[in-house]
Amino acid sequence: MSFNYKFHVKKKRPEDIYADVRDYYKKQRLLDYAYSKSMMRIQEKITKRVLELLDFDNNNKLILDAGCGPGFASFYLQQHGFKVVSLDLIKSFLNIYDMSEINPINGDMSHLPIKSNIFDAIISISAFQWIYREISGKSENKSLIELVKSFYLALKTNGIIVIQFYPKNTKILEKIGSIFVKHAPFEGGYIIDNENSPKKRKIFLKLVKYGNSSF
Ligand SMILES: C[S@@+](CC[C@H](N)C(=O)[O-])C[C@H]1O[C@@H](n2cnc3c(N)ncnc32)[C@H](O)[C@@H]1O
Repeated sequence: MSFNYKFHVKKKRPEDIYADVRDYYKKQRLLDYAYSKSMMRIQEKITKRVLELLDFDNNNKLILDAGCGPGFASFYLQQHGFKVVSLDLIKSFLNIYDMSEINPINGDMSHLPIKSNIFDAIISISAFQWIYREISGKSENKSLIELVKSFYLALKTNGIIVIQFYPKNTKILEKIGSIFVKHAPFEGGYIIDNENSPKKRKIFLKLVKYGNSSF
């Protein structure tokens, strides 16, 4: 996947500073995020757009929300009639609101503790910038490849992935896209909203699973 359109975010962001997301989202910062009404509104707006991109003709679908945090996207999907499984690495995020209806799982999306062929879709909102940061990072390459394979296995045939995230630059965005299509039979690409406005820009990777799970 390559682009004519280029960007590079110079400002250091939390994922450039903290090696482990668990060292960033803790204590008061975690609570501020979880209780922020404006954050909730922003994440719901992104989820609404993700639903448009999923383009389902009915809500009788099971969706995994990978990197769910306090569950803003998961609750939105549940309110719209979808069945949801909500997964996050940070246990404290799963204890803020009552998540009993959205099936919380404390786990790492690179090693999904989940059976094969069960999800109609996997979404991930504002989390992937923590998953893959450096093009030269061998361990990140390995863990992204594991994630691609575990997402592939967890999805039903024709299942859809929509990942919204904030990559640091176009190279990382291209690299993530190419790792997905190289390591499992996925087809798709990027959709970029407001590409000329760095502040409003929203990047979505949409992929469809082809074939069955035994690749
Ligand atoms: C900015 S928060 C976004 C949370 C939520 N998706 C939302 O829209 O509000 C990023 C989340 O990604 C989660 N995360 C990062 N790496 C993860 C991984 N490898 N597996 C599962 N969750 C992860 C973090 O724990 C954190 O809750």
